[in-house]
Amino acid sequence: MAQKRQDRRTLCAWRFLAHRARTSHCVMFLGIDIGTTGTRAVLIDALGKVVGGESSEHEPISTPEPQWAEQQPENWWSAARLAVKSVLARTGVRGGAILGIGLSGQMHGLVLLDKQHSVLRPSIIWCDQRCQAQADHITRTVGYDKLIEITCNPALTGFTAPKLAWVQVHEPEVFHRIEKVLLPKDYIRFRLTGQFAAEVSDASGTTLFDVVQRRWSDEVIGALNFSRDWFPAVYESVAISGDLSPSVAQELGLKAGTPVVGGGGDQASGGVGNGIVSPGIVSSTIGTSGVVFAFMENPARDQKGRVHTFCHAVPQKWHVMGVTQGAGLSLRWVRDHLGGLEVSLGALLKKDSYELLTQQAAQAKPGCEGLIFLPYLMGERTPHLDANARGVLFGLTGRHTRADVLRAVLEGVAYSLKDSFLIFDDMKVPVTQVRASGGGGRSALWRQIQADVFGKEICTVAADEGAAFGSALVAAVGAGAFGSVEEACTQSIQLNNHTHPIAANAARYADYYEVYRSLYGALKPSFDKVTRLTASS
Ligand code: XUL
Repeated sequence: MAQKRQDRRTLCAWRFLAHRARTSHCVMFLGIDIGTTGTRAVLIDALGKVVGGESSEHEPISTPEPQWAEQQPENWWSAARLAVKSVLARTGVRGGAILGIGLSGQMHGLVLLDKQHSVLRPSIIWCDQRCQAQADHITRTVGYDKLIEITCNPALTGFTAPKLAWVQVHEPEVFHRIEKVLLPKDYIRFRLTGQFAAEVSDASGTTLFDVVQRRWSDEVIGALNFSRDWFPAVYESVAISGDLSPSVAQELGLKAGTPVVGGGGDQASGGVGNGIVSPGIVSSTIGTSGVVFAFMENPARDQKGRVHTFCHAVPQKWHVMGVTQGAGLSLRWVRDHLGGLEVSLGALLKKDSYELLTQQAAQAKPGCEGLIFLPYLMGERTPHLDANARGVLFGLTGRHTRADVLRAVLEGVAYSLKDSFLIFDDMKVPVTQVRASGGGGRSALWRQIQADVFGKEICTVAADEGAAFGSALVAAVGAGAFGSVEEACTQSIQLNNHTHPIAANAARYADYYEVYRSLYGALKPSFDKVTRLTASS
């Protein structure tokens, strides 16, 4: 099997080189990122230059109960097909020019298939917080130290195993029909290729994976009475995991047999897209979640488990990251529930509603005269690891305006990302450069706020395509266009938007950050009480 894959990789590399010699401008790689709010497809050429990208939105997250978050895998699949067709139509690239596909996706989501390979229930996704009891059960059963030793992380409500254990307890009729357990991007891989496969960076976030040895942990899977057969073969990100099926190729206008590489979880893929492939360079990504991400030569662990240690999309390398559950999600909440004006105006003026919202936020003063936002709308991971934490707007006075509220949301997300930098300091993870990406990289205001709150210079990557770009680069490496992920990043990544901290703002934020830090502890008993009250209502 391994030999067959190696042969295919050699064949692919040969095909690519022959092709490039003739028509280098015609060689393309496709990255598909199955995000939370939508799916994005990005095409890059043989030099790693972005040729085009198109997105297709998902239906909103369904929250049938407090703390729940679900999505329909079929909806991701429709969005993926639409995004791929749109990018081909928009760029005019012929499907035959695409020599490799890379997949990236929101991590941790639980996709369950039955014997007929039909989806058994909606996917319980990363930000769902219903399974604290199961996370505790896993910790008791396997043992905290053992979990840290094998999986490098504690069992968290955001991770996959506690979600699976929740189904075991609450939906036994579903549990008994499970044939396969997949992560979101691996479900899309199955639909593209008909083949089941997993990949190391994404599998790292399941609590069922030996992150040091880069393989499923029979020990943890067995201890939890899950079946080892449910979990597909696992690949490195650049390895070819399968090829495009003829029927899907025909529908999408691609070539049957196009290799699909392992790809990566959205954070590891975003890490590649931002060039986080050597020590010292760190990214701060504000998507739906917010992530501070650093490269590691070897897997170092935080014994308190406040940041995650996972396999990187670079073979035999690791990464560490701190996660804010509700980063872009907080701004989206504001837009959806308080931003009707900007949404209508944006539609009328053909402007982005987020841009209109941040324009208004820029009217408020740094620090918002003591108005402080805690972005815990979906509980919090780093540093609190608390499913019960709730969003808070603290310090509201009669003087505050709508602009203050909007700015406080942007600042609260930056405070929460700063928490991760402090843990990196504890762990001696070096930080020599910070690359902002996602919404926080696109907005000049949010970039300045981050530079001021972190007290560090921020820059951005010119190809502002994050995870989809990273997964296209990984596909190009898998097909032999580049010798390594590091080489792909060096050749294709350029920096811009260097933003320096403004000393007066940085000093003010340092004071407010202390208040921000004190609020969680003060409110913890109230978060727990409200969770109990809403659970029983
Ligand atoms: C990472 C995480 C999120 C999701 C969605 O641990 O939970 O970043 O991958 O983006």
